[in-house]
Amino acid sequence: MTPDIITTTAAVDPVFFFIFGVCAVMLLGISVAMLWFVIRYNRKRCPEPLSQKDNNLWLEVTWTVIPTILVLLMFWYGWAGYLSLRRVPDGAMPVTANARMWSWQFVYENGKSSDRLYVPVGQPVKVKLVAKDVLHAFYAPAFRVKRDAVPGMANYVWFVADKVGSYDLFCAEYCGVGHADMTTTIEALPPDEFADWLAAATKMPDGKPDGAELFSNNGCTGCHSIDGSESIGPTLKGLSLQPQIDRDYLRRALLTPAAELAPGYAPLMPAFDFLSDAELNALLDYLERL
Ligand code: CUA
Repeated sequence: MTPDIITTTAAVDPVFFFIFGVCAVMLLGISVAMLWFVIRYNRKRCPEPLSQKDNNLWLEVTWTVIPTILVLLMFWYGWAGYLSLRRVPDGAMPVTANARMWSWQFVYENGKSSDRLYVPVGQPVKVKLVAKDVLHAFYAPAFRVKRDAVPGMANYVWFVADKVGSYDLFCAEYCGVGHADMTTTIEALPPDEFADWLAAATKMPDGKPDGAELFSNNGCTGCHSIDGSESIGPTLKGLSLQPQIDRDYLRRALLTPAAELAPGYAPLMPAFDFLSDAELNALLDYLERL
């Protein structure tokens, strides 16, 4: 890693601890003073006021100046941290995050796509946030980044993973009935492993697109289980065993999903008319095997 990068974590944590520390000291100081006054000056112990003063100049100057300095320090730390979050280091790897109801798709420079965000350890990553339908938000707590994906608006986050691992990634903007399921992970790999992963083809050995991969990359798993469990859409387990379901039915279900609904399910599915013929056929092959 370039040594002079201030990571997003290093940009956010000091501000958090500074504000938290100030709050903790204030809470403690105010509570102790309050209890002291309640006990020391209660009416039984102190029936008459000890003195009556209208004002105390130094006291007022003190409680104006100290809080002003504290608040300005919070602003200064917060502003500097925010600038670090918006300043993408040189050499950041670009990735596009497509957010749609209710799954993520990540597209890399070479055109490869995945439903988890794979990144090399030690290299900054710039994630372009694209909302395909409604508002979503990219939220990676481990890297302290959270940013809305807004339809029609260019937005981004950057972060760098400094340790190998799997990190949570959430949608943090309510985006409909499947919002809570719009989760995935950031997989930080050693740079050479990442390079191998990125270079590996997404096509089957015979050169056709991989149906299983299309199924997860296009967000189908966001609404349809393949193990029989309940979800937003009907499960696709045992699909080929149902007599009324054939290839033509499945094709219609993908291209014009609202035309024939599975009983008991709302018309929520987008049309998958952007798939190429080869992709559509690979996906249908996969569905027929379920
Ligand atoms: Cu996407 Cu909430």
